[in-house]
Amino acid sequence: MSDIKNIKDEYLLKLSKDLDVNQINEIKTDLFGKNGLVSSQFKQLGKIPEDERKKFASELNDIKDELQNLIVSKIEEIEIKEINQKLEKEKVDITLPGRPFAEGKIHPVSQVIDEISSIFSEIGFSVEEGPDVENEYNNFTALNTPDNHPARDMHDTFYLDEKKELLLRTHTSPVQIRTMLNDKPPFKIIAPGRTYRSDSDQTHAPMFHQVEGLHIDKDINMGHLKGCLNYFIKEFFEVDKIKMRFRPSHFPFTEPSAEVDIGYEIKDGKIIIGEGDKWLEILGCGMVHPNVLKNVNVDPGKFQGYAFGIGIDRLAMLKYGINDLRAFFDCDYRWLNQFGFDPIDVPSSYRGLSR
Ligand code: PHE
Repeated sequence: MSDIKNIKDEYLLKLSKDLDVNQINEIKTDLFGKNGLVSSQFKQLGKIPEDERKKFASELNDIKDELQNLIVSKIEEIEIKEINQKLEKEKVDITLPGRPFAEGKIHPVSQVIDEISSIFSEIGFSVEEGPDVENEYNNFTALNTPDNHPARDMHDTFYLDEKKELLLRTHTSPVQIRTMLNDKPPFKIIAPGRTYRSDSDQTHAPMFHQVEGLHIDKDINMGHLKGCLNYFIKEFFEVDKIKMRFRPSHFPFTEPSAEVDIGYEIKDGKIIIGEGDKWLEILGCGMVHPNVLKNVNVDPGKFQGYAFGIGIDRLAMLKYGINDLRAFFDCDYRWLNQFGFDPIDVPSSYRGLSR
């Protein structure tokens, strides 16, 4: 009996010290593990004379309960202490002012590509894409462009290899070829994207954007081309009337070919689209050349249609009053802040400091 009293006193003393969870668990094993001090006392019960056994067992149980309860409450105490310390450290200081974040802007070119895509998709065009790095065949040969054509010159085109087989596409027209090779007519697509020419001044950048249009079906004629472009220009500039003229031109991949100008005037330093007596060229177009159709296995006796290529950057400049094309691609954050578009659903209270 005195044995277990000693054990009890010894361990009460141990447990009264400042312990961590591991140390307490060690004590727990010492006492109640398989061969623990208390556990072995229980094993001894059978050897105790019967008249003492009951008393001994009940005292042993009391001691066991007391030590066990103490261990449980000690561990709990430590855990609560840890949680409180954590809460104390991680306290949210609601008196701090909110931390604003710099809000991104949508580049005018991206904005205009979205606007163009949605206008054309309303009249049944789907959107296609092609790679910026093209092969010579898709960019020139399949588009009926002869070997001696000036566009093939090094001065105009960025070639990527000595053999002049790979290049940065000079227009979005190779997407016409890719689309028609991949599918069967009819075709009614637009293809916006980056294009490259060896050119740089106030109205020309070496990288610029175009949107290609292609509509091939059984009875498509130039009237459809005019109607489609007229509709697009009015929708894009949000005007009811538009002055537009088709000037005869030449592209190897269309016959007949035309360039399209829109009328404008400048009033109080602002450009007004659709009125006035000045003309601005915005696109090239025409009826797809039979040779192009043959190159993509479309029978020109059965199918015909029109194609157009619109300069996107120029449309963006006109619509949003931006006068230097090169600023589009300077990546100047201040410029983007001024001319860029707000993404929708950003609550104004979160708007950034940078504005
Ligand atoms: N690809 C021509 C250019 O870049 C534009 C164009 C496209 C003309 C389609 C006719 C038909 O100048």
